Amino acid sequence: MAAEEKRGVKSSSSIVPCFLFVELVIMAGTVLLAYYFEYTDTFPVHVQGFFCYDKTFSKPYPGPDNTSKIPPVLIYSLIAAVPTLTILVGELCSFFTKAQGTQEKTIVTADCCYFNPLLRRVVRFLGVYTFGLFTTTIFANAGQVVTGNQTPHFLSACRPNYTALGCQSTVQYITERRACTGNPLIVMSARKSFPSKDAALSVYSALYTVIYVTVVFKTKGTRLTKPTISLTLLCLAFLVGVVRVAEYRNHWADVLAGFFTGGGIAVFLVTCVINNFRRFQPSPALIPPQRPDSMLGVSMVALPCVESPLEKLSGTQHPALSSASSPPYSAFITPF
Ligand SMILES: *[C@@H]1O[C@H](CO)[C@@H](O)[C@H](O)[C@H]1NC(C)=O
Repeated sequence: MAAEEKRGVKSSSSIVPCFLFVELVIMAGTVLLAYYFEYTDTFPVHVQGFFCYDKTFSKPYPGPDNTSKIPPVLIYSLIAAVPTLTILVGELCSFFTKAQGTQEKTIVTADCCYFNPLLRRVVRFLGVYTFGLFTTTIFANAGQVVTGNQTPHFLSACRPNYTALGCQSTVQYITERRACTGNPLIVMSARKSFPSKDAALSVYSALYTVIYVTVVFKTKGTRLTKPTISLTLLCLAFLVGVVRVAEYRNHWADVLAGFFTGGGIAVFLVTCVINNFRRFQPSPALIPPQRPDSMLGVSMVALPCVESPLEKLSGTQHPALSSASSPPYSAFITPF
């Protein structure tokens, strides 16, 4: 029995670095792609034509994004801070309430078995969240570059010379690539509208946090706490989209598409990749033979983890040992 246990542990601990490596490569690739979309012109935006004097694109230019009522800096700080804090608080709370509940019936050394899952869960949830954030950025940027749909203030930024273009009526369609006389940078950003990236990121962030709060938070007695937090977050995300439309930075269709993009990615990641934030239940068939050994083994291996709780690397390496009895797919997720 002990030899079998050891072999199982050994093989899974050699698998984990492999998965960790794959995850890191995927993560690096995602970040790199997002960077290329965001800060370089590797992927040139599709140049669409326009109708002369088109009213849909003739709204006044609202100024650069920094002058918005909800500037990108504010959005990005909220997107980074709110889910991180929520997940940290939620995991700490559920960890301590769980530890208190189990202390009565388990040995003191077994207490540490719960420590590794804590770090592991935090790293996994935040890792998947970050991955989704970059994926959402890529989706939104790719949509903007491929469609090249103009913003409502496009013509104000483009400032076409209608006399030179020979515009007489509003049905005349201009396909001339050099029709714009405005600042090329502003014109290029005015060609990126569909879908709205700010709306997609806000909804992604809000929905991820809302599902986390709904599933993980335990608020017995105060029935309205979870709905209040959830609806506040969703309302803020909705507000971002509304402000985008109100400031003539996006059409409502762009914002709607952004909502669907961000929401879809959040729902997919939560349901299919991290299994609704639930704890992994070892399959019943495997528990009885392994329990005595694994309890002992985990408590011994996990001990250094208790001494240095802040060391993340050891937290990501050891979970393999405790997850030896989990279903195989948990190995996928362990590195996070
Ligand atoms: C527009 O084009 C016409 C004809 O080429 C030229 O005379 C005029 O100065 C241009 N106007 C502006 C504002 O560039």
